[in-house]
Amino acid sequence: MNLQELEKTARALVAPGKGILAADESFGTIEKRFKAVGIESTEETRRAYREMLFTTEGIGEYLSGVILFDETIRQKASDGTPLPKVLENQGIIPGIKVDKGAKDMALSPGEKVTEGLDGLRDRLAEYRGMGARFAKWRAVIAIGDGIPTRRCIEANAHALARYAALCQEAGLVPIVEPEVLIDGDHSIEQCFEVTEWMLKTTYQQLYEQRVELTGTLLKPNMVISGKEAPVQSGVEEVARATVECLLRSVPAAVPGVVFLSGGQGDIQATEHLNAMNRIYKGRLPWELSFSYARALQQQPMEIWAGKPENVEKAQKIFRHRAKMNSAARSGSYTEELEKEAA
Ligand code: 13P
Repeated sequence: MNLQELEKTARALVAPGKGILAADESFGTIEKRFKAVGIESTEETRRAYREMLFTTEGIGEYLSGVILFDETIRQKASDGTPLPKVLENQGIIPGIKVDKGAKDMALSPGEKVTEGLDGLRDRLAEYRGMGARFAKWRAVIAIGDGIPTRRCIEANAHALARYAALCQEAGLVPIVEPEVLIDGDHSIEQCFEVTEWMLKTTYQQLYEQRVELTGTLLKPNMVISGKEAPVQSGVEEVARATVECLLRSVPAAVPGVVFLSGGQGDIQATEHLNAMNRIYKGRLPWELSFSYARALQQQPMEIWAGKPENVEKAQKIFRHRAKMNSAARSGSYTEELEKEAA
């Protein structure tokens, strides 16, 4: 393992003013997202959509990396340039989702465990050859009646650590993603408790698998009330609860935390990140950044709608959303800046 190179990549991914676009939706997920805005999911619409995002002029100013799906890393832009190369030309580091999805956990109703360790060493070598310099593995933890259980927390944390060790061996920075879901009517306090439990267990497992934390990134959920909760947490409350939870659980050796948006509204996700960076400016051991899928893509996907004549408009709104999150990296996002788009 070349730790220096891993550290360099990890730090570049959380460079000031930059964050990550997660464009790694699996076949099932992209179909669901496309369907919601009336786009048919075919190999060609998926390719054209991602080309639209990646060729947005100046997007490298706000994005450090893009996470790709297996199909996408093999696709080409209309001029024949491989999509990972299109990203490199924009100064963006290509990454790859390598888990095989969260599957129902045996004998544990309502819980999931992420699969994909079998054959992972070979897949990582192939992806690295195609230009990927970092990877992602997502574990999913649900809050509900009697869940999560210890067995679910431990199985997922163990898989994350096994994946991270294989990534480092292969020269890829592992993004470790233990996502506590926003679905349900749980309180922000319950989310705090489960997130802290999952993070502490994950870091214990990473330690046991000898993963070098300086060459990793964490992709957690924010600490927030459940979508169906009768009382909804405010922006400052989410910012403070999230950072306090991370301070208790995430070692200072980790260079950066790149949040998922998890079903928050796009502006809400920007506001939360901005509040954290504003309130805790200069007081945190790690960078606080973004690795959003929905919060960056919601509007551009809707506007594009599968039509070539909408590409320019969709790219404009995509660039705007990325720029707003870039501002949130330093706590300098404002409502006035938001209105610039119009
Ligand atoms: P969302 O930002 O839509 O939650 O997606 C991030 C992600 O990559 C989930 O794995």
